[in-house]
Amino acid sequence: MLIKRNKGWELPEHMATPEDVFLNRRTFMAGAGATAAGIGLGIAPSSVWAGQDDDPTKDLYPAKRNEKYKIIRPLTPEKVNSTYNNFYEFGSHKSISKAAQALQTRPWEITIDGEVETPFKISIDDLIRKMTLEERLYRLRCVEAWSMTIPWTGFAMRDLVDLAKPLSSAKYVRMETFMNPEVATGQKQGWYPWPYVEGLTMAEATNELTMMVTGAYGKPAAKQFGAPLRLIVPWKYGFKSIKSIVKFTFTSKRPLGMWENIQGREYGFWANVNPKVNHRRWSQASERVLGENKRIPTQLFNGYSEQVADMYKDMGTEKLFY
Ligand code: MTE
Repeated sequence: MLIKRNKGWELPEHMATPEDVFLNRRTFMAGAGATAAGIGLGIAPSSVWAGQDDDPTKDLYPAKRNEKYKIIRPLTPEKVNSTYNNFYEFGSHKSISKAAQALQTRPWEITIDGEVETPFKISIDDLIRKMTLEERLYRLRCVEAWSMTIPWTGFAMRDLVDLAKPLSSAKYVRMETFMNPEVATGQKQGWYPWPYVEGLTMAEATNELTMMVTGAYGKPAAKQFGAPLRLIVPWKYGFKSIKSIVKFTFTSKRPLGMWENIQGREYGFWANVNPKVNHRRWSQASERVLGENKRIPTQLFNGYSEQVADMYKDMGTEKLFY
């Protein structure tokens, strides 16, 4: 998120170097034996996918692709996506995939509480088996001006909202990531207000695009993707798409996300993608496509205006685009 307070304007190597050059260089280093850890190299050792073979819902993959959500754009190679992640619980850099394997994703309990008919807890496997999994191809645009195209597997968040039975007083859904600093050592960094929190309005949560992700690339999700359950809201900057969720709280009060809590003038509640509204420290006009050596223009709502623009009409002075 480039929020390192004194160095935020500095580009790390992987942002300044064309992706293929960067990956080739890393691959060379791997061949030269410079990689005892074996991760973050552009080539993913098999351990990066560890945890999927014993996933109790593995039989549900690959799920049928929903042809409505296709994209005319190459998919980001899995090895690129799996080794370039934001998951601050495991470190404030992109090469967290090895560290993330420490996360135990079973047993995993989801709490549904707040303004609902009856609060309850449900195991992730019971939840997944109540839902119909499908595959959708979505774009992901990070606030840091890089992007990917990903085959996610999961279910519509509106189905989870139906299961939760919110009261009419509930106007928002607040989502919270696990808290376990012993395993996720990034959570020992005191200046982040852990746990990671994000929120959506009820209209956003029940929008057709809003997806609860359980898998990617035709398999149960790798841990670095936010297994076993993560949000995807493809028209918003990536930080809204919270990973490894343990709690959904339905509430009348607008939730304060972790990044908004840290720096609300750069990472707001709405965070809708807009190429004309720059981040305070860089342009949002274009994006670097990971896995391809090019930049492309960024689109309003990341190309999803048709499905989402109506939700933001007549919102007065709300800061909708950061
Ligand atoms: N969720 C949690 N719990 N922790 C995080 O650090 N990073 C966010 C989002 N969800 C993050 C998170 C950011 S900044 C982005 S861009 C996306 O996850 C990155 O998802 P990816 O690693 O699957 O590309």
